[in-house]
Amino acid sequence: MMEYNNIYLGNFFDLINEINDNSINLVICDGPYGVTEKNWDKIDNTIQEFNLNLIKILSKKIIEGGALYLFGKPNCIDFIDYRPYLTLATKIVWYQPSRLAQGRRNYTNNYDIIAYFTKGKVANFNLDDIRIPQLVELNHRKRCENVPSVTNGKFGKTKFNENGKNPGDVWGDIKQLTYKSKELLSRKFLHTIQKPEKLIERMVKASSNIGNIVLDPFAGTGTTLAVCQKLNRNYIGFEINPELVSICKTRLSEIKMEQKYTLFSQMA
Ligand SMILES: C[S@@+](CC[C@H](N)C(=O)[O-])C[C@H]1O[C@@H](n2cnc3c(N)ncnc32)[C@H](O)[C@@H]1O
Repeated sequence: MMEYNNIYLGNFFDLINEINDNSINLVICDGPYGVTEKNWDKIDNTIQEFNLNLIKILSKKIIEGGALYLFGKPNCIDFIDYRPYLTLATKIVWYQPSRLAQGRRNYTNNYDIIAYFTKGKVANFNLDDIRIPQLVELNHRKRCENVPSVTNGKFGKTKFNENGKNPGDVWGDIKQLTYKSKELLSRKFLHTIQKPEKLIERMVKASSNIGNIVLDPFAGTGTTLAVCQKLNRNYIGFEINPELVSICKTRLSEIKMEQKYTLFSQMA
């Protein structure tokens, strides 16, 4: 088994053999989308075949009760039978209203899919860690609690939680990074689509606990690993591009330095 809290340079299809079966709590899989001619995004077969193969391989590595989040375009898991391996719990839509909408002959795609799979009965769904603000006014919420459809409804009286609500399955509150974003690590690699930490944070918080093991098989600039380092999860990352591995290593060591500094100043 590989050492935790590291990124490994190499091809996912080789490195994954070094991971023990039933050893990973959570996989964040943001690999090729199969839509551009960029090297990182090229695949030999259709994206559905590619993803089914990933699901097969990764399902063996995930522990019972663990989870996989798989990124892709709207058709990324169409017409493939993943059911022998994992259960599709939610097809999350990551909605980006600001995406350029230039299509003239059809509706322009302005969302990504994040397919959230579980292995057997899910072990973690830490809702209280990922609540988002209620959009409506408090008084209106209070009135809602008394309307007949709520009081007589299937779920009885719906209590509105002061700490916020479930983020739901359309996530429109987290923006994709642009070349102007402070968080962006490298304009040169803007095309590999570095994900915002807030987006990955929601998945890591919901589907893992402190000390759990999180795998990112296509780590890129290391967003998942950075989030895990900050949230005290153990992590393993793979990345085929040496330049990205080096960007990721620098990112991780800066976070570790900052953590040491904070600890030091708290003790002083
Ligand atoms: C969408 S990007 C990941 C971006 C990442 N989530 C981030 O926030 O920076 C996908 C990455 O997968 C890497 N990749 C593609 N095929 C790979 C393979 N077979 N093995 C390992 N890495 C691969 C690419 O180089 C690219 O950096």
